[in-house]
Amino acid sequence: MFLAKNLHAGYGRMTVLRDVSLTVAPGEIVLVLGPNGAGKSTLMRALSGLIPLQQGQLELQGTVVTGRSVEQLAQRGLRHVLEGHRVFPELSVQDNVRLGQIARRRADRLPDADILKRAFEMFPILGEKRHLLARSLSGGQQQMLALVQAWAAQPSFLLCDEPSLGLAQSLIPEILRFFQERASEGMGIVLVEQLVEQPLRVADTVVVLRQGQVVAQGKADGFTDAAAVAELMLGDRP
Ligand SMILES: Nc1ncnc2c1ncn2[C@@H]1O[C@H](COP(=O)(O)OP(=O)(O)OP(=O)(O)O)[C@@H](O)[C@H]1O
Ligand SMILES: [Mg+2]
Repeated sequence: MFLAKNLHAGYGRMTVLRDVSLTVAPGEIVLVLGPNGAGKSTLMRALSGLIPLQQGQLELQGTVVTGRSVEQLAQRGLRHVLEGHRVFPELSVQDNVRLGQIARRRADRLPDADILKRAFEMFPILGEKRHLLARSLSGGQQQMLALVQAWAAQPSFLLCDEPSLGLAQSLIPEILRFFQERASEGMGIVLVEQLVEQPLRVADTVVVLRQGQVVAQGKADGFTDAAAVAELMLGDRP
């Protein structure tokens, strides 16, 4: 389990997040929804150790990990895919995938051939372009590459910040399927989105953030009305 309890976090003395709690079980997809500036990325940074907590506690696989660095949390199986598809533009597609394993202990690494085979099953277009430089990929393909690179590190918990941002609508189902498949293999996932409708279909639980606070939280089947959720995000409803 990955637990965040009563988090307060922000930048310097400014507090952005107030009293945010969430739980991620293995195999679960937690969807964090919220409008621009709601604090979604700040929450992901606080969860992954990129920014310190002002208050609250993080627990990973039964151990309190509050105050641990990104690297320490990564070693314990937590991985954060930042907003905007960050890949190494001057490396080939296949080298980008292989680099995902660098964070793993040598003894835990799988043979490159296995990693590449599985990665290209997830996103066949990357297999077709395996020898090209990552910078030649479209934005959507770079997002796919960032995801398989994170997967190659074999994290137990994956945090992913707005993977659908800027992508063609037609690519979104493919990206969401990636998360469903990883969850079915036991990975716990925190997915941040501004889009509501499609991500809601793959989520197990939902957290709605507005102005740094949780305004609604619960099982995804309580959030089936996408229009109502969108209104909740924007504050049109109490
Ligand atoms: N590095 C930073 N330094 C200072 N303030 C920041 C920083 N990053 C974000 N903020 C502020 O924190 C608040 C929440 O921003 P955050 O980026 O977490 O929101 P978000 O929900 O991810 O928005 P978006 O949907 O635009 O990505 C905003 O008021 C923003 O201005
Ligand atoms: Mg953001």
